[in-house]
Amino acid sequence: MKTLLLDNTDENIAKAAEILKNGGLVGLPTETVYGLAANALEGRAVAKIFAAKGRPADNPLIVHIADFSDIERFNLVREIPESVKLLAENFWPGPLTMIMKKSDVIPDEVSAGLDTVAIRFPSHPTAQKIIKESVLPLAAPSANLSGSPSPTTALHVMSDLSGRIDAVVDGGMSDVGLESTVITLAEKTPRVLRPGGITLEQLRSVLGNVELDNAVLHQLEKGAKVSSPGMKYKHYAPKANVILLKCSDSEYIDYVNEHANESTAALCCDEDIEILNVKCFSLGKRSDYSAQAHRLFDELRKIDEDENIKTVYSRLPSLDGVGMAVYNRLIRAAGFEVIDLGKM
Ligand code: TXA
Ligand code: MG
Repeated sequence: MKTLLLDNTDENIAKAAEILKNGGLVGLPTETVYGLAANALEGRAVAKIFAAKGRPADNPLIVHIADFSDIERFNLVREIPESVKLLAENFWPGPLTMIMKKSDVIPDEVSAGLDTVAIRFPSHPTAQKIIKESVLPLAAPSANLSGSPSPTTALHVMSDLSGRIDAVVDGGMSDVGLESTVITLAEKTPRVLRPGGITLEQLRSVLGNVELDNAVLHQLEKGAKVSSPGMKYKHYAPKANVILLKCSDSEYIDYVNEHANESTAALCCDEDIEILNVKCFSLGKRSDYSAQAHRLFDELRKIDEDENIKTVYSRLPSLDGVGMAVYNRLIRAAGFEVIDLGKM
């Protein structure tokens, strides 16, 4: 199959919507990362997503809508909890996914056999137009091959999925750069399953009590029960070995320079570039967690393009604000390998 790479003109948006109505797959831009969309109401269309990505069948998908009223219009859930309405008023459209009890219209391919469904209303105008034009809720995981970093540009999608999907619509580089925050409201207490652009602090400011799932910051023990199947897979892993250093800024510089050779590199901040003696992949200013989120996956892909790099050193990110999302992705990219320099 030849994959069409389309600009986001109205004509191409209509073309993309037509492909989706006919059960095809379209890569589309969202403000978080690019998604790989199919008709969420059609199990056979959704099954193609799993085949194209090489995604494990037990990992459920997010359903994307273009208006809050779409939840009722398409009859996606059994009931809408008050907490969902409150969060939607504050954070939709935007990088927040909410899990609710699903209705019978959600195919098993979407929910992976769970009795819940994850729903998101993205803010990217092109995503909204494609959803509206197709008049469908769209199931869409990140548009990468399973296990590689999520795509933040149309070219990332092409490089992973060209020949495996019908089309990609180019809507520029994703703003947030990391996947949405996932929160479950299907249980007694709201719980964050994946941190993202909407922070724990923001969610607590609206709902009060919000828990943080254990899998967000810690490696799951073998056989442990997972609330969000996506958390159990090794994710975002570049070919090079990523090592996280828990240390002060000066210890980081000293450690990386002591280990400098042609096969080492640093995933670092702008302030480090001048003083490090290795190839630097900067995520932006040290205090700018949003910039770090925005650039993380793009830099991880650039590291992969350099065959010489075998080891990459990064600081353990801060847990404040969007920093927690960067921490969550990087610690998985590192396979939970952290060296605590304070303890050596
Ligand atoms: O920003 C995003 O969320 C992007 C864009 C395209 O919207 N999508 C995305 O999808 O990141 P994906 O499939 O890569 O990640 C979805 C995550 C997975 O960890 C999955 O296990 C979890 O959400 N998830 C989906 N439905 C769920 C459910 N019913 N219960 C628990 N976790 C669920
Ligand atoms: Mg993904």
